[in-house]
Amino acid sequence: MNANHEVKSLTAIGGQWGDEGKGKVVDLLSSGFEVVVRYNGGHNAGHTVCFADRRFALHLVPSGIIHENVSCYLGAGMVIDPSALCAELDTLTAEEVRHEGRLFLSDRATLILPTHQAIDNAREGARGKGKIGTTGRGIGPAYQDAAQRRALRTFMLTQPARFLDAARDLMTEHNRELDVLFGAPPVNLDEALETLRTGAERLGPLVREIGPKIIEHADQGQQVLFEGAQGVLLDIHHGTYPYVTSSSCLPGAAAVSCAISPRYLGPVLGIMKAYVTRVGEGPFPSELEDEVGERLRERGNEFGTTTGRPRRCGWFDAVAARYAVRAAGVDAVALMKVDVMDDLAEVEVVVGYELPDGRVLDTMPADLEVLAQVRPRTEKLPGWQCSTRDLKEATAMPARAEAYLRFLERQVGVPIVLVSTGPRREETIARGDSDLSKQLAGLIETNQSLE
Ligand code: IMP
Repeated sequence: MNANHEVKSLTAIGGQWGDEGKGKVVDLLSSGFEVVVRYNGGHNAGHTVCFADRRFALHLVPSGIIHENVSCYLGAGMVIDPSALCAELDTLTAEEVRHEGRLFLSDRATLILPTHQAIDNAREGARGKGKIGTTGRGIGPAYQDAAQRRALRTFMLTQPARFLDAARDLMTEHNRELDVLFGAPPVNLDEALETLRTGAERLGPLVREIGPKIIEHADQGQQVLFEGAQGVLLDIHHGTYPYVTSSSCLPGAAAVSCAISPRYLGPVLGIMKAYVTRVGEGPFPSELEDEVGERLRERGNEFGTTTGRPRRCGWFDAVAARYAVRAAGVDAVALMKVDVMDDLAEVEVVVGYELPDGRVLDTMPADLEVLAQVRPRTEKLPGWQCSTRDLKEATAMPARAEAYLRFLERQVGVPIVLVSTGPRREETIARGDSDLSKQLAGLIETNQSLE
């Protein structure tokens, strides 16, 4: 075993409610890694990839795929909709990105069937005002089938006849549930099976047992980047349940998803925005339902990559961030979209949750009824009111913006090692002099020279 593999790997996760800008960070860093692994969720996630002068969206395939020396793996903890993955392969082909021989799919991931999507939407409809605000991609129902031990798994894509028989049986059950539970119309099975047949033909060749392959890469001294989807506060166990996704977004889930030792994961980079956003329903103590929230949404272009929904916006929530850092063992933070706050005269940070009896909570309570009662305590800082856009050096940061970053570091308790000041690769600053900062600075330098 290579003794240095811990240092060479990195796990990048979302530290808030998703949409923190993981796509940009992973894209920026991934040419410096030989292997990129996505370990949770499905096509509920989404990121825009900027490649040469082209832009396109990926939902399942890691953006590392655009670098031809990078191998990409999709872990067993994921839920895979075959037609969504096929559509991404089409996009890659149209963009002249060849994936053959370097994109692999775990043989144990759960398959999303068209009926899962129908159940997701019927259940959300039936929940009415109590809906979760899911992405409607069938994520929850597919994970539910996995837990119920009746799911179809990716190894079946290599055995189309057996797969289609099993899919017909399971989708027949789903159609009965759609009718009985929700009075919803059935999914047309012949059409669904035809889509699945095409999916199996195209995806079967990508299916592998991935754990041994990832261990082999790491043991050969290759660098592995593990990429989490969504964020700590959407984690099925530790997020704001039930307003969460159905998978674990924490770094430990990467080891589980790939069936490898947690030793392989390396340091944890928590990606956070300089403010906070959330899509879908659920508690959001620092939410701004005013003009400032509107400005953040507009300047930050806060509309979902997957569903186009406007994102709710609010101040940076240091209570939630401390909780996320603790829960996920975050070693350092990449702070995104600092430039979006450039024109604010004053910025606030939530530093405590005050209960009606005056006590101040310093954690995310498990009970959402308690969370609904808290009044956020904020601290105000002067805005920097000048452009941070395009800055490339930490020393060029305006003093008030730097004061904001230092305030957040003190609040959150870990260093901010990357600062993003715009959507482009070169609008990124490596900060500080820790080993991780230096490693990231090196990676950024390599990647910024790529086009
Ligand atoms: P689901 O994952 O589609 O079941 O949605 C459950 C919750 O997670 C909803 O609030 C979604 O808006 C949210 N969610 C799921 N994926 C993402 C993501 O990639 N970014 C942000 N929110 C997400």
